[in-house]
Amino acid sequence: MEKRRFYVTTPIYYVNDLPHIGHVYTTVIADVIARYKRLMGFDVYFLTGTDEHGQKVEKAAEADGIKPIELADKVVENYLNLWPGLSISNNDFIRTTQPRHEKGAAYLFKQLLDQGDIYLDHYKGMYCVSCEAFLTQTQAKGGKCPDCGKPLEEVEEESYFFRLSKYEKKLLAYYEAHPELIQPEHRRNEVVSFVKGGLKDLSVSRTSFKWGIPVPENEKHIIYVWLDALSNYLTALGYPEDTELYRNFWPADLHLIGKDILRFHAVYWPAFLMAAGLPLPKTIFAHGWWLKDKAKMSKSVGNVVRPQYLVEDFGADALRYFLVREMVFGQDSSFSDEAFVGRFNSDLVNDLGNLVSRTLGMIDRYCEGKIPEPDVDDDRYRKMESRIKECAVNWESHFDTYQLHKAMEEVWSLLSDLNKFIVGQEPWVLAKDESKRKELDTILYVLAEAARLVALVISPVMPVKSQEIWNRLGFDAKVENCVVSMMRFGSLKPGSVLKDSKEHLFARVDAKAYLTGEQTEPGKNKVEKTKKQSKVEEKSEAGMDNLITIDDFMKVQLRVAKILEAEKVEKSKKLIKMKVSLGEEERQIVAGIALQYQPEDLVGRQIIVVANLQPAKLMGIESQGMLLAASGEDGAPFLLSADEGSKPGFRIK
Ligand code: MSP
Repeated sequence: MEKRRFYVTTPIYYVNDLPHIGHVYTTVIADVIARYKRLMGFDVYFLTGTDEHGQKVEKAAEADGIKPIELADKVVENYLNLWPGLSISNNDFIRTTQPRHEKGAAYLFKQLLDQGDIYLDHYKGMYCVSCEAFLTQTQAKGGKCPDCGKPLEEVEEESYFFRLSKYEKKLLAYYEAHPELIQPEHRRNEVVSFVKGGLKDLSVSRTSFKWGIPVPENEKHIIYVWLDALSNYLTALGYPEDTELYRNFWPADLHLIGKDILRFHAVYWPAFLMAAGLPLPKTIFAHGWWLKDKAKMSKSVGNVVRPQYLVEDFGADALRYFLVREMVFGQDSSFSDEAFVGRFNSDLVNDLGNLVSRTLGMIDRYCEGKIPEPDVDDDRYRKMESRIKECAVNWESHFDTYQLHKAMEEVWSLLSDLNKFIVGQEPWVLAKDESKRKELDTILYVLAEAARLVALVISPVMPVKSQEIWNRLGFDAKVENCVVSMMRFGSLKPGSVLKDSKEHLFARVDAKAYLTGEQTEPGKNKVEKTKKQSKVEEKSEAGMDNLITIDDFMKVQLRVAKILEAEKVEKSKKLIKMKVSLGEEERQIVAGIALQYQPEDLVGRQIIVVANLQPAKLMGIESQGMLLAASGEDGAPFLLSADEGSKPGFRIK
């Protein structure tokens, strides 16, 4: 029998910015669904990538004084390096600057042009560079983008147009016939009423900048970045060639996107595909936005949550679990350090970690580390078997309807029952009475079997920890190669030997210390970091790497910054938190200079900062850069500043 197939995509990310938890979220969700489908026996193709063309990227590169492709090459590394550390199992990573993509996107444009669905005219109107979107007069009222709030640009230029208006009725008919196309339902309703409001033809080329794919046969124009970007879902499969990948996986089963890019995916993209005579994706699912402490994340406010510190401190699985569990899929959700640490300690350390360590610990103690033989007729065996079956059925149906948070709720409700089962059955009491041996064996078998099944059902979300549980139970196999048939209760073989029962799955974090910044990590990382650090120092002292090339130096982005606000960090003697301007953007910087400088003396000073340093947390406050200071013998800092005439944002080289 031919394998069922599943093609899932994430949006491709702009390369003008570093990834934050919003970007990580879509990719994690896509990975969780991909892993779930593989477990269910599907042949999965999982695509992610980067959107590298357009005015926004061109401008960002200009501000850095580099070419757009240099910026893209640099930023793409952040994504490529981030995904493996988050256990992202994508099959392909597409960059829109790759020839395979440029060729396919140009082909699609040419086809639509040749058949008269694209025509040349003149565009006059407003454009939002941040969203790369043309706006109607009503949308542009007030001169600010209704979506991102940034100021709009007036555009007047010759432009190619796509006959979007021609597809208005066809789209409405398609939405009607395929209610599953746009999910969740309230998003579908939004799209339907937008289209019912009337569709105007869409400008699909630009002439006022250069960074994009040239329009075939009229290179003065470049293809509108959204037409370019959307076609990645096809070009990654080899389109327009008739490749095996394309035949196997198009149309996509699931485009996962954030709610802000719904119109592009649910209106423009289906219309382009209809025009090209290609089948439409089966589902476009728009999730909500992550806020930080209930406020919109923004670089200028300085509240952007970067994933690295969470991964370093808690591990990728914990971040993945939090993202899946905390957000009602489809709605907005707020990230806070308190909620994160809270879930970590209660759900992972207590509920999951305790079940595993208590179960394995007792088997170690009472059964010499071997899985005992259960009495399958014991009522408790039967009851737990049916409880677990019920959990598996609900888990599957939640996954199939993309209610991932509910699937996890289901598992955690089982974990709670299992922990209560331990307390209720008191195996430690049974162990004292030889006549209760069979009962003890049955209880411990049930618990071990439950731990095995829990490892399987959490494996799409927590691939690392589920593998760890799997290994401790004595299995060498990779959890990711498991199939759903292994979910049958009672498959665990009595007599098989546990590998390791001692270590806790998760180390508890002292929430108070973590949140006040006294303890930044649960412990282990600190040691590793210190080791790495001392290696670098040894090398330098030996004089082996004293010289660097100009390219090495240029990797460090030094910029002039103006201090706009400064205040002491509460409960810290040394730290000052500042808001600084880098010209086009504002950042929050935290520095240990409070013993030498008063906040009020700092405001207005022009200092030098390292602008491309990974953000770090000091006393729980994110610092998005580092200021430069000379260091005296006692370590006291002397701030560096730039001469008069220099402006915030100027690059230092
Ligand atoms: N390049 C386009 C997508 C083209 S797809 C053919 C783009 N890129 S983006 O980098 O700006 O955003 C990528 C995704 O990140 C979008 O789905 C967006 O919704 C998501 N997020 C950005 N900020 C977010 C949050 N704060 N929370 C959740 N997701 C958010 O748009």
